[in-house]
Amino acid sequence: MTMIGIDKMSFFAPHQYIDMVALAKARHEEPDKYLIGIGQTQQTVVPATQDIVTMAANAADPMLTVEERADITTVIVATESGIDNSKSAAVYVQRLLGLNKFARTIEMKQACFAGTYGLMQARDYVATHPGEKVLVIASDIARYGLHTGGEVTQGAGAVAMLVTENPRILTLNTDNQFMSEDIMDFWRPVYATEALVDGKYSADVYREFFQTLWARYQTQTERTIADFKAFAFHLPFTKMGLKALRDILPEANEAQQEALLAEFEASRVFNKRIGNLYTGSLYLSLYSLLENSTTLQAGDRIGLFSYGSGAEGEFYSATLQPDFKTGLIKNHMSTLLDQREELSIATYEDVFMSGLQGAEDRELDISQDPAKFVLAGLRGQQRQYLAH
Ligand code: CAA
Repeated sequence: MTMIGIDKMSFFAPHQYIDMVALAKARHEEPDKYLIGIGQTQQTVVPATQDIVTMAANAADPMLTVEERADITTVIVATESGIDNSKSAAVYVQRLLGLNKFARTIEMKQACFAGTYGLMQARDYVATHPGEKVLVIASDIARYGLHTGGEVTQGAGAVAMLVTENPRILTLNTDNQFMSEDIMDFWRPVYATEALVDGKYSADVYREFFQTLWARYQTQTERTIADFKAFAFHLPFTKMGLKALRDILPEANEAQQEALLAEFEASRVFNKRIGNLYTGSLYLSLYSLLENSTTLQAGDRIGLFSYGSGAEGEFYSATLQPDFKTGLIKNHMSTLLDQREELSIATYEDVFMSGLQGAEDRELDISQDPAKFVLAGLRGQQRQYLAH
């Protein structure tokens, strides 16, 4: 059987962040509530010169060779913070990255779940079109508003994944279990820039979906927790994944419980410092696991749980390939994280309110944004994207 999966991965987040202790102090909360209770240490702040299109292009650009740009035949951008109700973000991304013109370009939405659907579409497409390459990018800005309960779970970023035959990183197994249910735990009407959320309910549904799909997975595949070396979760905040993992840990023996908890710590290193990136959160966690685990080996099976409010969930497994670390760009994450600038809470609040909202044409100051692809303004109702 042909092996299909993720050949390369890359990540981008804007260059500014706030510290969660500073945010806790400003909001008169105990710092440990944010650091331990929520499980976040830093949060990405998005300047007006970045949006889901520039973040998507900035994520994919460093991992693609000239040949791959010519070979890609489908570009899928998954997002729930899109910039246009008609035109797909993937068309802009295709141009910015200099990709093949004879490619399909499409945007997908189902809250934080759409990246997983994009990945499975890519896998199934390559299965019926041997040799082709699909670029999947999950790009989002998680925005709840200043002084809201969800503020501590904001964040932003994009994860880019190249799906091919004989992948370097992992194969996507065809054991997916999924479910959908029409519920109102989190949504964002077309007129709103911030999400509406029933926070506690959303966290409860997340856990229920995971438990239901995990039970169904075991029945359908006859596998047990002993078949898994690690789990990666959608991490709206990192404590959420820990809660889900703890729900199934009693099924493992003591040694495996310790091992799974250690892998979980590896899987949340980057998410703790970036925050939520909706569609990309599970895949940033996978990236974090692959880069920070010192014990995972070729052939190991990883379980992945994807959750998108509204709600849809999916559990599936992936198998690590020999030399899987070569599919990640060397030192990419440490450079990106270390070069960021910390903002005071007052500056963050100004930046938060300064985005390109409304319909008035304007130019943005791109001189302070070190990213390659930036949004330079709005002219004649058209977003001005450029590389600098
Ligand atoms: N030291 C250590 N822990 C502390 C503490 C302290 N001093 N003070 C409080 N805590 C703990 C609490 O005990 C609690 O832990 P448990 O959940 O394990 O009991 C934790 O900190 C959070 O405290 P609260 O529940 O009081 O926090 P809150 O009322 O401020 O709300 C939230 C938290 C519901 C997650 C809120 O931030 C929110 O609404 N976030 C957005 C919604 C969200 O992320 N939902 C996740 C599921 S939906 C999804 O996954 C899709 C998506 O991306 C949105």
